[in-house]
Amino acid sequence: MRIKMEIGTMNQTQQLAEAFSHVLKPKTIVLLKGDLGSGKTTFVKAVVAALGCKDTVTSPTFTLLNTYNAAFPIYHFDMYRLASAEDAMNVGFMEYFDKSTLDGVCFVEWPENVEGLINEVDFVVEIQKNGDNHRTIIIEEGK
Ligand SMILES: Nc1ncnc2c1ncn2[C@@H]1O[C@H](COP(=O)(O)OP(=O)(O)OP(=O)(O)O)[C@@H](O)[C@H]1O
Ligand SMILES: [Mg+2]
Repeated sequence: MRIKMEIGTMNQTQQLAEAFSHVLKPKTIVLLKGDLGSGKTTFVKAVVAALGCKDTVTSPTFTLLNTYNAAFPIYHFDMYRLASAEDAMNVGFMEYFDKSTLDGVCFVEWPENVEGLINEVDFVVEIQKNGDNHRTIIIEEGK
């Protein structure tokens, strides 16, 4: 499955995130790709809200991992400050990407920085910024 949407407003990003939230279940791994400020964290925030979770979603740039409690745990990673898969293993992230032990959903920003760490990807969400509020969002299954 591959869907590509032209988004013109924040509200449309939220609607797409709401639709996407319905495919999520424990043991789902979602990679988020796109430049700085393209809207990766914003997309996760909208998904978490759509799942009925009231937890505050902030960028895990410095914490590396934020956890939110919806019907299942949501693990929100930002690999921006890591330089390799080895870095991620050193901070104990390996267990999250093993489907036999994963108990929730993983969202991963900047997966490019930890190449080789994540082997079982369910969805890749790619966000391109084309203007102030305009985005192209591509959601692709299993890559
Ligand atoms: N249609 C839209 N969809 C998503 N974000 C939008 C949209 N229009 C404007 N924005 C704004 O773009 C910014 C996206 O920032 P966000 O922190 O989500 O980016 P990011 O991809 O997570 O960046 P980083 O790589 O630094 O973590 C926010 O300020 C958000 O309000
Ligand atoms: Mg972000």
